[in-house]
Amino acid sequence: MSVRSLLTLGLAALPAVLGSPLEARAAAAKTTTVTASASTVTVTASASTVTVTASGSACGSITSAPSSSHTTSTSVNTNPTTTETATQTIGFNKAAKSLSPKRYFGTAADIPGTGENQDPYYMAELNNTKDFGQLTPANIMKWYATEPEQGVFNYTGGNDFLALAEANGQIVRCHNLVWYNQLPYWLTNPTTNWTAATLTAVMENHITNLIEYWGDRCYAWDVVNEALNDDGSWRETIFYEVIGPSYFDIAYKTAQAAVKAKGLKVKLYYNDYNIEYPGNKSTAAQNLVKGLQSQKIKIDGVGLQSHFIIGETPSQATQESNMAAFTGLGVDVAVTELDVRSPNLPPTAAQETQQKADYQSTVGACANTQRCVGVTVWDFDDTYSWIPSTFPGQGYGDLFFQPGGPDTPLVKKVAADGVIAGWESGT
Ligand SMILES: *[C@@H]1O[C@H](CO)[C@@H](O)[C@H](O)[C@H]1NC(C)=O
Ligand SMILES: *[C@@H]1O[C@H](CO)[C@@H](O)[C@H](O)[C@H]1NC(C)=O
Ligand SMILES: *[C@@H]1O[C@H](CO)[C@@H](O)[C@H](O)[C@H]1NC(C)=O
Ligand SMILES: *[C@@H]1O[C@H](CO)[C@@H](O)[C@H](O)[C@H]1NC(C)=O
Repeated sequence: MSVRSLLTLGLAALPAVLGSPLEARAAAAKTTTVTASASTVTVTASASTVTVTASGSACGSITSAPSSSHTTSTSVNTNPTTTETATQTIGFNKAAKSLSPKRYFGTAADIPGTGENQDPYYMAELNNTKDFGQLTPANIMKWYATEPEQGVFNYTGGNDFLALAEANGQIVRCHNLVWYNQLPYWLTNPTTNWTAATLTAVMENHITNLIEYWGDRCYAWDVVNEALNDDGSWRETIFYEVIGPSYFDIAYKTAQAAVKAKGLKVKLYYNDYNIEYPGNKSTAAQNLVKGLQSQKIKIDGVGLQSHFIIGETPSQATQESNMAAFTGLGVDVAVTELDVRSPNLPPTAAQETQQKADYQSTVGACANTQRCVGVTVWDFDDTYSWIPSTFPGQGYGDLFFQPGGPDTPLVKKVAADGVIAGWESGT
């Protein structure tokens, strides 16, 4: 058994089964610290306690920790030996704002969740609007958190998140309304005999309630997240299986009605991964947009998640032509979850340089695309990254790291200069 599948078992207490990069994010969301070496993987999570043994000599344990706890220190140093640090000081968001039209640069943050909001160094950087003009809640607006019991909504975490962003003057991409993962048990419980009619009503109620409640405090909503398989076919989610493919159109129709009822400006997005380059999945996502448009149903934009690997990131030209295929349909695009992970740890000096080039490709593609409204990284500090627990042995994907561990100063990697170079290359 792979470490990954063992993690899946170990985190079975989470609201849904893990498997894809984003499914695995459920685990990442609960994960506070990962230490890795050739033979051990230790994951500290807020879910249940299990001990796992992986294939070969690798083994690891998942131990419980209160979700409010701090991360513990890393026992194996995976920091690069030759770190070159950033030299550009203008700020990611300031550079984005200087383009015409203005763009934003933002980050996801898991608050409450990994404990990052108790790390004063993390928080000071999150608050730094020179770098971040936009925030995305990593988890707290997902269905399990917002409607934990049928028809009983919990806005507390979302309100707190919005209040933090508003205090700083940061806009918020609200995330997400309809996704197959991190659903509450009342919805996924196999003994609940949903029919197309009853599940449609539940979905409509969830969408309408949250869009109307948070209104224009959300700059955008990811209405449906990850509806597609990598070959472009429909992902067989609970919504797809019970309602059929029409669930997709119904979701956007419902969102549109809520926007209209309240006279809102909030933008309605579709969000997915592996649609950042031309191929069957990107084409299928374009067809979803066209399908809504042919029925005069509102869709304002497509989120390109952009979870990339050093050296395997699509070229800037490829990303630009893919963005053009979407914007040519009359919708905005946004890079919504960017990170560029190292497939090995520690990264080599050459990989650090390549990581800078890869960040530059994606930001540069956005800068050169008039209707690319901004770039969001899926958190900015390796200490709190979802990557190491999802892809054991990989990491170093974010723009900052903490050589001394949690609650110590952040170091801005040379990759950060790639972000600035990307914005500055905009035509
Ligand atoms: C971050 O910003 C919030 C809201 O402005 C503020 O309450 C908090 O004290 C700030 N934290 C740090 C560490 O700057
Ligand atoms: C609502 O959500 C908040 C934030 O996650 C949590 O602390 C609180 O316990 C929840 N309230 C209820 C009644 O479940
Ligand atoms: C759901 O359907 C199954 C099979 O038809 C039945 O045995 C079960 O009692 C039903 N559950 C509920 C909660 O109605
Ligand atoms: C992409 O779609 C084409 C045409 O439908 C199909 O022949 C091909 O196998 C698909 N490729 C992948 C990788 O799924």
